[in-house]
Amino acid sequence: MIFDIDMIKAVYSRYQSRVEKARKILGKPLTYTEKVLYSHLYSGEPQEAFSRGESYVDFAPDRVAMQDATAQMALLQFMQAGKKNVAVPSTVHADHLVQARVGADKDLQEAINKNNEVYNFLASVSNKYGIGFWKPGAGIIHQVLFENYAFPGGMMIGTDSHTPTAGGLGMIAIGVGGADAVDVMAGMPWELKFPKLIGVKLKGKLNGWTSAKDIILQVAGLLTVKGGTGCIVEYFGEGAESLSATGKGTICNMGAEIGATTSLFAYDKNGADYLIATGRSELVTLADNIKEDLRADQEVYANPEQYFDQVIEIDLNILEPHLNGPFSPDIATPISKMKEVAEKNGWPLKVEVGLIGSCTNSSYEDISRAASIAKQAVEKGIKSKAEYTVTPGSEMVRYTVERDGYLETFEKIGGKVFANACGPCIGQWAREGADKQEKNTIVHSFNRNFAKRSDGNPNTYAFVGSPELITAIAIAGDLTFDPRKDKLLNEKGEEVMLNAPEGNELPPKGFEVDDPGYQAPAQDGSEVKIEVEPTSERLQLLESFPAWDGKNITGARLLIKAYGKCTTDHISMAGPWLRFRGHLDNISNNTLIGAINAFNMEANKVKNEISGEYLSVPDSARKYKSEGISTIIVGDNNYGEGSSREHAAMQPRHLGVRVVLVKSFARIHETNLKKQGMLALTFVNPEDYDKIKEDDIFNFLDLDQFSPGKSINIELIHSDGSKDIITTNHTYNQGQIEWFKAGSALNLIKQNEAK
Ligand code: F3S
Repeated sequence: MIFDIDMIKAVYSRYQSRVEKARKILGKPLTYTEKVLYSHLYSGEPQEAFSRGESYVDFAPDRVAMQDATAQMALLQFMQAGKKNVAVPSTVHADHLVQARVGADKDLQEAINKNNEVYNFLASVSNKYGIGFWKPGAGIIHQVLFENYAFPGGMMIGTDSHTPTAGGLGMIAIGVGGADAVDVMAGMPWELKFPKLIGVKLKGKLNGWTSAKDIILQVAGLLTVKGGTGCIVEYFGEGAESLSATGKGTICNMGAEIGATTSLFAYDKNGADYLIATGRSELVTLADNIKEDLRADQEVYANPEQYFDQVIEIDLNILEPHLNGPFSPDIATPISKMKEVAEKNGWPLKVEVGLIGSCTNSSYEDISRAASIAKQAVEKGIKSKAEYTVTPGSEMVRYTVERDGYLETFEKIGGKVFANACGPCIGQWAREGADKQEKNTIVHSFNRNFAKRSDGNPNTYAFVGSPELITAIAIAGDLTFDPRKDKLLNEKGEEVMLNAPEGNELPPKGFEVDDPGYQAPAQDGSEVKIEVEPTSERLQLLESFPAWDGKNITGARLLIKAYGKCTTDHISMAGPWLRFRGHLDNISNNTLIGAINAFNMEANKVKNEISGEYLSVPDSARKYKSEGISTIIVGDNNYGEGSSREHAAMQPRHLGVRVVLVKSFARIHETNLKKQGMLALTFVNPEDYDKIKEDDIFNFLDLDQFSPGKSINIELIHSDGSKDIITTNHTYNQGQIEWFKAGSALNLIKQNEAK
């Protein structure tokens, strides 16, 4: 058995008493979201009510999931913690590094050849530390999690933004950075600002050409890409109960596109049926015992305005199929309006490619409904005008839909089946001619459609829709095609129409798979050796950062005074650098190369005081480091906003930076700096930013008395001999000061582990 029934038993055994306690403390009926959150407090039983949108709360997730791109640094760090095993069940999924080019088998083999050392590393670390490893070709992380691990009432974090997919089965599942995954795997708490709650009431029932995807496409249109920030979206109502579990998964998946922390559906009959169909009857028996608390209290759904911060209502009876795009998933256009809107905006109407699948839409239901359209095209003698591709989400779905003849149907309309991996969704698509950057339109059933996302061409207009609609539009080759009323000409020149799609929520003959692609970890991994070639370009074992010597930092130099916006992308750029994610020294060559130097307003050109020359930021940092000189980064407001990537803190630390002093921090980055043993400080007087000169020497005056709530003074010696003293604040609590003393949070865990 792949899923961990004992862990689930433990979660359920304490679930209801904690819910009851929370209900008492809050003195009101509870939403489902609150039940799951209050039953997963790191401190155990609920003791206090938290303020939505304000309180920072420590949670204890039940599971951790990682995809191969983000897992590399997460596991390299975890190895530093000195633990024998992960503290909670965890999995790694090899899905992001497979490029879609000619078709599943060849592409997969090529990925294995190209990424062999990364895959071997991930497999052996997983084997050693008790982590389940899903090999390349096994499937896309969220689909595999949905089929094997998601469970109602549970909590999971995953190092990928679309982790919320598991909300379709009633699990609070949240996308996080690698550092958070490391904390939870090492047994530390995971902190989250207690979210606000948005309730979405679904009335009526889907019909005809509409699908679950259209619900989230409309929600995205209503709330926009920012509307869900800091919120959990809870769906309810008769419409919610009528959706398949995988349809709910699609909706939760794309909650990421409105910036929601996660999205959630209650446990219901369809959820139970899906769990049984995927081999988890035992879990259903357990869930049924507590099912009244695997949903909100009745009063909540009766008077949602009283219990949610915002309520939206959608009537599924009249919901239309949508296409969202181009360049943003929240530009929602019902297909009846597409002709008018597309012509007005000058969007290219001819559709070049239709792509279905991905982690968003590759359930059995999705594939069978899309195949019903393809089948009609074959039977009615219509040739597909656009190219057509299918990316299955898992080997289990692929095997089952192949058995049931659907892949063959797609091939009959010229469809190409790619590997069970992210492929075109993450730009891993060797699309012929994309480099010519011609203006063109594609339609797909994925989730994101930002410029360049799929094929790297900034002039590709990508529209998002349900797999069945995408199939119909690909066949028509026309963005404005409305299959509910428009006709197509077949090979005989006759006018024909496509009937509304039909499909099965679950395979009538059951799911089947030959080799799911799973590697279970060793029972005792202590003998497993982790080999990383010292000459490797892509992987490098980490060395512990040095502990603090307890003394004031003196004689430090300015590495860069960053001007204006400095996001984690400015600090550690993505793009081509992603291939070095598992090699700290190599990826450090991108450190702050996007930041603007406040003294010359140029990027990646800073003065090095040892040589007097202007160098790139990484070169200058390395020069100071080789001379044993500590360095400081100075920044503006909201320094480190953007993603939660831990590289943005690890890289400067690796290059010898000791302190980041800014007007204000983005909170996650500030925490990441603390975890890596850096000193994260803010100016008491933001104008002191202006006092800092390019050639200053920095002497700390009272860091040796580092304690919670106590400011820290720094003396600046300017090149003309004059001096300034500036006062800085910090937000370290005693525990975080211990991280600083030890050199990093992981060093501290290791020390404690060794005791
Ligand atoms: Fe992969 Fe795209 Fe999903 S990158 S995890 S298929 S959003």
